[in-house]
Amino acid sequence: MRVDHIAIAVKDLDDAVKVYSALFGKEPDHFEEVEEQKVKTAIFYLGDVRIELLEPTSDDSPIAKFLAKRGEGLHHVSYKVDDIKSKLLELKNAGFRLINEEPRIGAEGKLIAFIHPKSVVGVLTELTQDIKE
Ligand code: CO
Repeated sequence: MRVDHIAIAVKDLDDAVKVYSALFGKEPDHFEEVEEQKVKTAIFYLGDVRIELLEPTSDDSPIAKFLAKRGEGLHHVSYKVDDIKSKLLELKNAGFRLINEEPRIGAEGKLIAFIHPKSVVGVLTELTQDIKE
């Protein structure tokens, strides 16, 4: 497994983009609205890892709920795997609590699935698999 991206929940995407553009010395590489997750996102490519800033687009977005409960900050860490379905099964059999038993479509059209933070030492954890062309 390799780190694919680190996602940070923010209240105001424009404000957060200013902060991270100043930190990284460049503008975001990609902007996208992900309707299924009810978020808009700005993505910075940093070598092999991406940093995603997530702002909710609706009060019932999972990110809106996270912000209300925990405030701004680290939302999840995502790890790239070659075969997300078999990895999910392997983790389930190892006792991990899966939020998504089946992969869903996330930002940039990738397959994603979440593992509950309670089974990963307090960090919401995502698996990502690139769609093969
Ligand atoms: Co993610």
